[in-house]
Amino acid sequence: MERIPIAGPSITQLEIDYAADAAAHGWYDRAGEYPRRFEQAFASYIGVKHAVSLPSCTSGLHLAFAALGIGPGDEVIVPDITWIASSAPISYVGATPVFADVDEETWCLDVESVRACLTENTRALLAVDLYGGMSDYEGLRAIADEHGLAIVEDAAEAIGSEYRGCKTGTLGDVAAFSFHGSKTFSTGEGGMLVTDDDALHSRVMQLRDHGREPGDVNFCNTEVAYKYKMPPVVAAVGLGQVERAEELVARKREVFGWYREALEGVEGVALNHEPSNTKNTYWMVTVILSSSLEWPKEKLMAALDLEGIDSRPFFHPLSSLPAYDGQVEALVAKKRNQTSYRLSPWGINLPSALCITHDQVKRVGATLARIIHSS
Ligand SMILES: Cc1ncc(COP(=O)(O)O)c(C=O)c1O
Repeated sequence: MERIPIAGPSITQLEIDYAADAAAHGWYDRAGEYPRRFEQAFASYIGVKHAVSLPSCTSGLHLAFAALGIGPGDEVIVPDITWIASSAPISYVGATPVFADVDEETWCLDVESVRACLTENTRALLAVDLYGGMSDYEGLRAIADEHGLAIVEDAAEAIGSEYRGCKTGTLGDVAAFSFHGSKTFSTGEGGMLVTDDDALHSRVMQLRDHGREPGDVNFCNTEVAYKYKMPPVVAAVGLGQVERAEELVARKREVFGWYREALEGVEGVALNHEPSNTKNTYWMVTVILSSSLEWPKEKLMAALDLEGIDSRPFFHPLSSLPAYDGQVEALVAKKRNQTSYRLSPWGINLPSALCITHDQVKRVGATLARIIHSS
């Protein structure tokens, strides 16, 4: 039986040719050429002034918090449902992650819960655009303006998504994207920080290059900082991906449409939501099952595995992870974040690779329906 993988990119001759060219010529005075071209093309696609290519989205979030001057004693509000890469960089700068609940439908930050998490130490809101869905940026911006907070967008999973016609990456003060091998644009590993803020951009450029000013050739470091850069061969693959942006995003939406069709009428299954003011790019097609079906995510994943179908668990609440065991914020979140704790046990991500076929989606849909309604 042919196994259906959970994720994977779409790589064409374009990316292969760019990567080969970078491997052959992306050295000496041409070393910066592909990173620069990728950054320019990406900034133009998103519609921002500055784009900085990086080794990962995690490093982008780290730089964002560091450049905003967030540090010990500060708090950053983060959704309880996300990958730990969203919250870990808050700890890297010595600040405290505060876990807010998520919205029942978008699975992104719940605005009322964010209000309940505010303290005099809150410095920023980290909005995570989960699985390609979008946060309620109007609600978050109102809170940020009222309390003088920055909004950092974790757009790792949402390249091409839109909120009220604005692309993800343009809604916060600064945003970070991921090009991990599973993502909609993939370079294997990689990331991009984007911002319209000139001062923040200059600070990021200094922090990402061991604390020396951009253009410094005298090795004169003015502070101890980080080394976060994207290699030319990786940037060459990224350039090919961004040049195919419309095709890749359209493909993600097509795959979701196939799943919607395949699961139509199947009782007790809720798919990713797309509010009318949002364009969801469905990085991961996700189902949340009704608890009355009594198919918790681990059991369902094991059953699909036996059928040759890979899946992933809906993120566990961060506050439930051993990594945050015993921390006050986690203990408080466990009681407060009822939606996160209600949804998480019943959700899985379905195979969402860019190369998945319509027939494979039909097979996943039929298998899932048969499994959950078999007993
Ligand atoms: C929501 C979210 N944030 C951040 C990241 C981190 O991305 P990277 O692996 O490029 O550091 C990921 C990657 O999986 C993610 O899903």
